[in-house]
Amino acid sequence: MRCAGSPVSLTLAPGRAVQATGEAVLSTPAAQHVSGRTPDGGIAARARGLTKAYGSGETAVLALDAVDVDIARGRFTAVMGPSGSGKSTLMHCLAGLDTVSAGQVWLGETEITGLRERELTRLRRDRIGFMFQSFNLIPTLTAAENITLPMDIAGRRPDPRWLDRVVDALGLRDRLGHRPAQLSGGQQQRVACARALASRPELIFADEPTGNLDSRAGLEVLGFLREAVDDLGQSVVMVTHDPGAAAHSDLVLFLADGRIEDELPGPTAEAVLERMKRFEVVRRPSGDGLGGQEG
Ligand SMILES: Nc1ncnc2c1ncn2[C@@H]1O[C@H](COP(=O)(O)OP(=O)(O)O)[C@@H](O)[C@H]1O
Ligand SMILES: [Mg+2]
Repeated sequence: MRCAGSPVSLTLAPGRAVQATGEAVLSTPAAQHVSGRTPDGGIAARARGLTKAYGSGETAVLALDAVDVDIARGRFTAVMGPSGSGKSTLMHCLAGLDTVSAGQVWLGETEITGLRERELTRLRRDRIGFMFQSFNLIPTLTAAENITLPMDIAGRRPDPRWLDRVVDALGLRDRLGHRPAQLSGGQQQRVACARALASRPELIFADEPTGNLDSRAGLEVLGFLREAVDDLGQSVVMVTHDPGAAAHSDLVLFLADGRIEDELPGPTAEAVLERMKRFEVVRRPSGDGLGGQEG
């Protein structure tokens, strides 16, 4: 996967730098700085030495290579990188949806690596919203039933005013009685978005939430995620390939070969595009087969 090369030094903020070498860094959270930001709001999720390997032996794939990251609370973080760079794996591991091979993950103050499945399930249910790359809607349930399913399972009642707001913002009012097969891809994605937001979770993970949407629907989803952060104090982590979508975030993390290689605060679409180009130029000579755009 990863080519050996000279260490990359990333300046993250005044006085902060991190060495991105091939070595795993395992240390206590307070001991060092890492990718992401530590604003006043604190940390919504945190990983140290997060390593994830799939398979074993010759066919093993190192999807995440000792990632250290802080996801700021009350901020909108975007994650970008080539296909196969580990974006989805990072989201799944941070959300406690997948086990890690090494390292530690915290949601808020709670370390989730090592939690038992039952505790983890409850924590996820109460605090996390997840929008998957594939929508993961239940085909036999209506849109409305899909949206409230996680809360129904948890025995919690949705706040009707919040639910109304979510449904209207996502333009789903007249689709609530439809089953997924009766909805377009964009509408299904909006249902998945509403489901992730319905319980008003502290932390929302969205894996390419605009990937299957036309630009207008995409802007609505982005606007809603932005609003969730600005007006409601929620935290959002979003994977995207679209510099325009990334520009809605507060901070872009660039992933390559299972490592966070760079980050860009206050992104504009132009700056993101520029950074992506620079990546290509810097990385191409190493001949490690990067550069495929995601499907
Ligand atoms: N369940 C899995 N089994 C084996 N390999 C996997 C699995 N999931 C992901 N991978 C591999 O891990 C790497 C990172 O995948 P992923 O996190 O899906 O990347 P991205 O979301 O950036 O496209 C890829 O090489 C991918 O093929
Ligand atoms: Mg992915």
